[in-house]
Amino acid sequence: MPSERIIEELRRDLCPRLCDLSPLPVPDGKPVLEARDLHFRYHDGKEAVAGVSFGLRPGESVALCGPNGSGKTTLLKLLAGLLQPQEGRIFLGAQELTPALSSAAFRTIQILFQDAQDQLFCNYVGEDVAYGPRNLGLPEQEVLDRAHQALHLTEAEHLDHRPIHHLSGGEMKRVALAGLIAMRAPVLVLDEPMSGLDPAAAAHLVELIRHLNRDHGYALLIVTHQMELVPQLAARVMIMEGGHLLADGGVRELLTDIPLMERARLKPPSITRYFFEKALAEGRKPQDLPLTVEEALGRPASAARVARPES
Ligand SMILES: Nc1ncnc2c1ncn2[C@@H]1O[C@H](COP(=O)(O)OP(=O)(O)OP(=O)(O)O)[C@@H](O)[C@H]1O
Ligand SMILES: [Mg+2]
Repeated sequence: MPSERIIEELRRDLCPRLCDLSPLPVPDGKPVLEARDLHFRYHDGKEAVAGVSFGLRPGESVALCGPNGSGKTTLLKLLAGLLQPQEGRIFLGAQELTPALSSAAFRTIQILFQDAQDQLFCNYVGEDVAYGPRNLGLPEQEVLDRAHQALHLTEAEHLDHRPIHHLSGGEMKRVALAGLIAMRAPVLVLDEPMSGLDPAAAAHLVELIRHLNRDHGYALLIVTHQMELVPQLAARVMIMEGGHLLADGGVRELLTDIPLMERARLKPPSITRYFFEKALAEGRKPQDLPLTVEEALGRPASAARVARPES
């Protein structure tokens, strides 16, 4: 489906419902999510997060990248209140995420697990997606509306009555994401949301993520190994290595820094690498490297083609 049509459909279905997303009480200029010098050590002594600090501003979308075992999943679990840091502090808006409050954090921040099997626990799809809103004590019709709409957005409507244990990996991912969307928490942290999806499902998910961010102001932190997708998903990227933040900056600045990418064992977009190697082979200093094929061809980036809704 062409991306313009997807956006049109998303807007028609989503806007009337989600425009009332209640904003977090965030004092002016303050992050919606903030980590201050977080440390986390597993029982076996492994320090998976070793002094991480950053802020996620309201409506910001940030990619979190890094090699296997660098601490990305552990960091997301700390932010969502599923693990408690041994040192450091986390703030959701103006509120500190203390152990006493961590069970209420789900109203503000929702996490998509790396492995969707860890997320789904009801017998049937519809039941699972409705579980969160039902637990919020919403009227039953609102619960059913939210579940139906979320399944539609993730192109999983047809799975509504299927047993969870019959789903494929990609189908489970879409159902798990539907469960998050049904909760309407304003901060989403997504752990490798694209893994296991076929190319069409991944393209749809990219459009959906962008729509939630640009048109509804969701703040997003997205773990991905697919560097080609990063320019479409985020304007800022954080790179983890060995439990630390190795770099935190603009997508263009970091993804065109090929030595940094290599040091972090990340693969820059192929088109970026091509122009980098070409410049070196021609004895030129690599500069103005493109991040996407559209940029290399001098065409507007696909992100720029996504129109904003009329206000
Ligand atoms: N339950 C656990 N007990 C002990 N060590 C753990 C546990 N979970 C993760 N670790 C270790 O903590 C470190 C960070 O793991 P984490 O899952 O956060 O990495 P990651 O960056 O998400 O990696 P990947 O890209 O493979 O998903 C790794 O060395 C891992 O082996
Ligand atoms: Mg992980």
